[in-house]
Amino acid sequence: MTLTATPSITATRLGANIGAVVEGVDFDDFTPEATEQLNRLILQHGVLIFEGVHATEEQQEAFARCFGTPYVYPLTRHANPEGDIWTEFIDTADSPPDADVWHTDLTWVPDQPKFGILSAIDVPATGGNTMWADLYMAYDRLSPVMQKFCESLTVVHQIGSNILDPVARNAGPAAAAFLRDNYPGIRHPLVRTHPETGRKVLLLAGGFMKHIEGMNQDESDWLINWLRNYINDPNFHFNWCWKQGDLGIWDERRTNHRGLSSHYPQYRCMRRCTVTGDGQFSGI
Ligand SMILES: [Fe+2]
Repeated sequence: MTLTATPSITATRLGANIGAVVEGVDFDDFTPEATEQLNRLILQHGVLIFEGVHATEEQQEAFARCFGTPYVYPLTRHANPEGDIWTEFIDTADSPPDADVWHTDLTWVPDQPKFGILSAIDVPATGGNTMWADLYMAYDRLSPVMQKFCESLTVVHQIGSNILDPVARNAGPAAAAFLRDNYPGIRHPLVRTHPETGRKVLLLAGGFMKHIEGMNQDESDWLINWLRNYINDPNFHFNWCWKQGDLGIWDERRTNHRGLSSHYPQYRCMRRCTVTGDGQFSGI
């Protein structure tokens, strides 16, 4: 079936390569035409922002369901496979923001989510922006020699202390041990082909990248650190200052993101859910 675009939906590109603001979406009625158009826009722009929509939990979940099954996180799923899909990020003076490092979510699980969806529930007037880096462009800008070299490499991704420590604090040492024991690491190619666009993309995931197979540890550390620094190039970036009620959706397979901590110690509350991926990038 060919669906026609919904004429009321418009996207305005804000970043040079990624990031667009979308208008004209009815959050009470996601028609098949609108869903198909939005999926195309996500693939095209990498990150979409809907300003001031003030989505309720029900609307955010319905939005996620347009693109697949909302993802239930490993610890929650362990307790109840049909469990809660929400993660709330509440930053206070006593609970500082802790996502201020480039990553894509959950490369240490076999079914990494494909889209992240974040609602700005309560945000300060300034600061606490989210930044995204375009990993298509990061791959494209490598020399042909470096592209070929990276394509030959496999990286072991593993859950780290940045997640295990807060889990141990908040849910107890047994919960942290469960994650460590059940998610011992997964192998991913350093360069993968996006399953929906067919474009080559670097698979980078900050601290989850532990080791490059076949390399001595110092060689592996060197290349992983080089790649982490490489995506600091502002030419790759889109940067959004959240206002109350904004909602963003991004392609986890094409981007890295980081939540800046510049609003600390001000209060900020964000609500996230994610959409289960297709499993095509799970291991090799
Ligand atoms: Fe994240």
